[in-house]
Amino acid sequence: MKIAILGAMPEEISPLLEKLQNYEKINYANNSYYLAQYKKHELILAYSKIGKVNSTLSASIMIEKFKAETLLFTGVAGAFNPNLKIGDLLVANKLCQYDLDITAFGHPLGFVPGNEVFVKTDEKLNALAKEVANELGVKLHEGIIATGDEFICDEVKKSKIREVFNADACEMEGASVALVCEALKVPCFILRAMSDEAGEKAEFDFDEFVVKSAQTSAEFVLKICDKL
Ligand code: ADE
Repeated sequence: MKIAILGAMPEEISPLLEKLQNYEKINYANNSYYLAQYKKHELILAYSKIGKVNSTLSASIMIEKFKAETLLFTGVAGAFNPNLKIGDLLVANKLCQYDLDITAFGHPLGFVPGNEVFVKTDEKLNALAKEVANELGVKLHEGIIATGDEFICDEVKKSKIREVFNADACEMEGASVALVCEALKVPCFILRAMSDEAGEKAEFDFDEFVVKSAQTSAEFVLKICDKL
Protein backbone atom coordinates (compact mmCIF):
# COMPACT_ATOMS: atom_id res chain seq x y z
CA MET A 1 0.00 0.00 0.00
CA LYS A 2 1.13 3.58 -0.66
CA ILE A 3 1.08 5.30 2.73
CA ALA A 4 1.72 8.99 3.34
CA ILE A 5 3.30 9.85 6.68
CA LEU A 6 3.07 13.55 7.28
CA GLY A 7 4.39 15.73 10.09
CA ALA A 8 4.76 19.49 10.33
CA MET A 9 8.29 19.90 11.66
CA PRO A 10 11.62 18.12 11.05
CA GLU A 11 11.49 16.74 14.62
CA GLU A 12 8.28 14.90 13.73
CA ILE A 13 9.64 13.10 10.67
CA SER A 14 13.39 12.73 11.24
CA PRO A 15 12.98 9.77 13.68
CA LEU A 16 11.38 7.87 10.78
CA LEU A 17 13.95 8.91 8.18
CA GLU A 18 16.72 7.84 10.56
CA LYS A 19 15.08 4.45 10.94
CA LEU A 20 14.38 3.93 7.24
CA GLN A 21 17.83 5.14 6.09
CA ASN A 22 17.29 4.20 2.44
CA TYR A 23 15.07 6.80 0.87
CA GLU A 24 14.82 8.95 -2.21
CA LYS A 25 14.42 12.69 -1.70
CA ILE A 26 12.30 14.59 -4.20
CA ASN A 27 12.07 18.38 -4.12
CA TYR A 28 8.70 19.67 -5.18
CA ALA A 29 6.68 22.85 -4.61
CA ASN A 30 9.15 24.38 -2.15
CA ASN A 31 9.36 21.27 -0.01
CA SER A 32 10.96 17.83 0.13
CA TYR A 33 9.19 14.48 -0.14
CA TYR A 34 10.92 11.26 0.86
CA LEU A 35 10.08 7.93 -0.79
CA ALA A 36 11.00 4.73 1.01
CA GLN A 37 10.13 1.06 1.06
CA TYR A 38 9.00 -0.20 4.47
CA LYS A 39 8.19 -3.92 4.63
CA LYS A 40 5.44 -4.41 2.04
CA HIS A 41 4.55 -0.70 1.85
CA GLU A 42 5.70 2.25 -0.21
CA LEU A 43 5.99 5.24 2.11
CA ILE A 44 5.86 8.91 1.18
CA LEU A 45 7.14 11.04 4.04
CA ALA A 46 7.27 14.79 4.50
CA TYR A 47 7.18 17.55 7.03
CA SER A 48 4.89 20.16 5.63
CA LYS A 49 6.22 23.12 7.65
CA ILE A 50 3.98 24.58 10.33
CA GLY A 51 0.38 25.66 9.81
CA LYS A 52 -2.86 24.92 8.04
CA VAL A 53 -1.85 26.23 4.60
CA ASN A 54 1.46 24.36 4.48
CA SER A 55 -0.13 21.14 5.67
CA THR A 56 -2.99 21.47 3.17
CA LEU A 57 -0.45 21.80 0.37
CA SER A 58 1.63 18.81 1.48
CA ALA A 59 -1.34 16.52 2.09
CA SER A 60 -2.75 17.39 -1.33
CA ILE A 61 0.59 16.73 -3.04
CA MET A 62 1.07 13.42 -1.23
CA ILE A 63 -2.31 12.24 -2.46
CA GLU A 64 -2.58 13.82 -5.91
CA LYS A 65 1.04 13.67 -7.10
CA PHE A 66 2.45 10.74 -5.11
CA LYS A 67 -0.83 8.77 -5.10
CA ALA A 68 -0.95 8.00 -1.37
CA GLU A 69 -3.85 5.66 -0.57
CA THR A 70 -3.94 6.41 3.13
CA LEU A 71 -2.50 9.26 5.22
CA LEU A 72 -1.08 9.05 8.72
CA PHE A 73 -0.22 12.30 10.48
CA THR A 74 2.31 12.21 13.31
CA GLY A 75 3.36 15.02 15.61
CA VAL A 76 2.96 16.91 18.85
CA ALA A 77 0.11 18.93 20.38
CA GLY A 78 -0.76 21.12 23.33
CA ALA A 79 -2.95 19.35 25.87
CA PHE A 80 -6.28 20.94 26.86
CA ASN A 81 -7.82 17.98 28.68
CA PRO A 82 -6.31 17.75 32.19
CA ASN A 83 -6.25 13.94 31.82
CA LEU A 84 -3.63 14.36 29.08
CA LYS A 85 -0.10 14.69 30.36
CA ILE A 86 3.09 15.57 28.46
CA GLY A 87 4.15 12.53 26.43
CA ASP A 88 0.62 11.05 26.26
CA LEU A 89 -0.73 9.94 22.87
CA LEU A 90 -4.02 11.22 21.49
CA VAL A 91 -5.74 10.00 18.35
CA ALA A 92 -8.20 12.51 16.91
CA ASN A 93 -11.64 11.10 16.11
CA LYS A 94 -12.71 14.53 14.86
CA LEU A 95 -11.12 17.91 14.35
CA CYS A 96 -12.19 21.53 13.90
CA GLN A 97 -10.66 24.86 12.90
CA TYR A 98 -11.04 27.06 15.97
CA ASP A 99 -9.83 30.16 14.08
CA LEU A 100 -12.24 29.93 11.15
CA ASP A 101 -14.46 32.83 12.09
CA ILE A 102 -17.45 34.23 10.22
CA THR A 103 -19.45 34.63 13.42
CA ALA A 104 -20.13 38.22 12.25
CA PHE A 105 -22.72 36.66 9.91
CA GLY A 106 -24.39 34.63 12.66
CA HIS A 107 -22.57 31.38 11.95
CA PRO A 108 -21.02 29.27 14.71
CA LEU A 109 -17.26 29.57 15.22
CA GLY A 110 -15.45 27.05 13.01
CA PHE A 111 -18.26 26.87 10.46
CA VAL A 112 -18.31 27.97 6.83
CA PRO A 113 -21.12 27.13 4.40
CA GLY A 114 -20.45 23.88 2.55
CA ASN A 115 -18.45 22.33 5.41
CA GLU A 116 -19.29 20.95 8.84
CA VAL A 117 -17.65 22.35 11.99
CA PHE A 118 -16.00 18.97 12.63
CA VAL A 119 -14.23 16.70 10.17
CA LYS A 120 -13.95 13.03 11.10
CA THR A 121 -10.98 10.72 10.75
CA ASP A 122 -11.08 7.10 9.59
CA GLU A 123 -12.74 4.78 12.13
CA LYS A 124 -10.91 1.68 10.92
CA LEU A 125 -7.50 3.31 11.33
CA ASN A 126 -8.50 4.57 14.77
CA ALA A 127 -9.60 1.06 15.77
CA LEU A 128 -6.33 -0.35 14.45
CA ALA A 129 -4.45 2.18 16.57
CA LYS A 130 -6.30 0.93 19.67
CA GLU A 131 -5.27 -2.64 18.83
CA VAL A 132 -1.65 -1.52 18.47
CA ALA A 133 -1.83 0.35 21.78
CA ASN A 134 -3.27 -2.70 23.54
CA GLU A 135 -0.56 -4.93 22.14
CA LEU A 136 2.17 -2.51 23.19
CA GLY A 137 0.57 -1.89 26.58
CA VAL A 138 0.49 1.82 25.80
CA LYS A 139 -2.34 4.15 26.84
CA LEU A 140 -3.93 5.76 23.78
CA HIS A 141 -6.42 8.57 24.34
CA GLU A 142 -9.07 9.36 21.74
CA GLY A 143 -10.72 12.75 21.40
CA ILE A 144 -11.22 16.08 19.68
CA ILE A 145 -8.43 18.21 18.29
CA ALA A 146 -8.80 21.94 17.62
CA THR A 147 -6.54 23.26 14.86
CA GLY A 148 -5.53 26.87 14.19
CA ASP A 149 -2.66 29.02 13.00
CA GLU A 150 -1.43 30.00 16.46
CA PHE A 151 0.77 28.43 19.11
CA ILE A 152 -1.53 28.50 22.15
CA CYS A 153 0.28 29.49 25.34
CA ASP A 154 -2.46 31.36 27.14
CA GLU A 155 -4.93 30.03 29.73
CA VAL A 156 -7.79 32.27 28.54
CA LYS A 157 -7.47 31.25 24.88
CA LYS A 158 -7.09 27.62 25.89
CA SER A 159 -10.27 27.69 28.04
CA LYS A 160 -12.28 29.39 25.32
CA ILE A 161 -11.33 26.90 22.59
CA ARG A 162 -11.90 23.97 24.96
CA GLU A 163 -15.29 25.33 25.96
CA VAL A 164 -16.57 26.03 22.42
CA PHE A 165 -15.37 22.80 20.78
CA ASN A 166 -14.95 20.46 23.77
CA ALA A 167 -11.41 20.02 22.43
CA ASP A 168 -8.89 17.74 24.16
CA ALA A 169 -5.83 19.26 22.50
CA CYS A 170 -4.70 21.91 20.03
CA GLU A 171 -2.25 21.96 17.17
CA MET A 172 -1.75 23.70 13.85
CA GLU A 173 -2.31 21.19 11.02
CA GLY A 174 -4.69 18.33 11.81
CA ALA A 175 -8.04 19.73 10.67
CA SER A 176 -6.68 20.99 7.36
CA VAL A 177 -5.07 17.61 6.62
CA ALA A 178 -8.28 15.78 7.56
CA LEU A 179 -10.28 18.09 5.26
CA VAL A 180 -7.99 17.32 2.33
CA CYS A 181 -8.31 13.59 2.99
CA GLU A 182 -12.08 13.78 3.27
CA ALA A 183 -12.36 15.74 0.01
CA LEU A 184 -10.05 13.32 -1.84
CA LYS A 185 -11.55 10.22 -0.19
CA VAL A 186 -8.34 9.01 1.41
CA PRO A 187 -8.51 7.44 4.90
CA CYS A 188 -6.96 9.78 7.45
CA PHE A 189 -5.35 9.16 10.82
CA ILE A 190 -4.15 11.97 13.08
CA LEU A 191 -1.90 11.11 16.02
CA ARG A 192 -0.34 13.56 18.44
CA ALA A 193 1.85 13.17 21.51
CA MET A 194 1.54 15.99 24.02
CA SER A 195 4.50 18.37 24.16
CA ASP A 196 2.97 20.98 26.48
CA GLU A 197 -0.28 22.04 28.13
CA ALA A 198 -0.98 25.12 25.99
CA GLY A 199 -1.09 27.47 29.01
CA GLU A 200 1.43 29.92 30.46
CA LYS A 201 4.99 28.70 29.81
CA ALA A 202 3.85 26.24 27.12
CA GLU A 203 6.64 27.51 24.87
CA PHE A 204 9.23 26.36 27.42
CA ASP A 205 7.64 22.91 27.82
CA PHE A 206 7.42 22.63 24.05
CA ASP A 207 11.14 23.29 23.65
CA GLU A 208 11.95 20.75 26.34
CA PHE A 209 9.63 17.95 25.20
CA VAL A 210 9.11 18.34 21.45
CA VAL A 211 11.83 15.88 20.41
CA LYS A 212 10.81 13.12 22.84
CA SER A 213 7.07 13.46 22.21
CA ALA A 214 7.55 13.66 18.42
CA GLN A 215 9.55 10.45 18.59
CA THR A 216 6.86 8.69 20.65
CA SER A 217 4.26 9.58 18.04
CA ALA A 218 6.47 8.66 15.06
CA GLU A 219 7.31 5.24 16.51
CA PHE A 220 3.63 4.52 17.09
CA VAL A 221 2.72 5.43 13.52
CA LEU A 222 5.28 2.98 12.18
CA LYS A 223 3.66 0.25 14.30
CA ILE A 224 0.39 1.07 12.55
CA CYS A 225 2.10 0.56 9.18
CA ASP A 226 3.11 -2.90 10.42
CA LYS A 227 -0.59 -3.71 10.79
CA LEU A 228 -1.81 -2.32 7.47
N1 ADE B 1 1.67 22.08 19.04
C1 ADE B 1 2.22 21.68 20.20
N2 ADE B 1 1.85 22.47 21.21
C2 ADE B 1 1.04 23.41 20.68
C3 ADE B 1 0.36 24.52 21.20
N3 ADE B 1 0.43 24.83 22.50
N4 ADE B 1 -0.37 25.29 20.35
C4 ADE B 1 -0.44 24.98 19.04
N5 ADE B 1 0.18 23.95 18.48
C5 ADE B 1 0.92 23.16 19.29
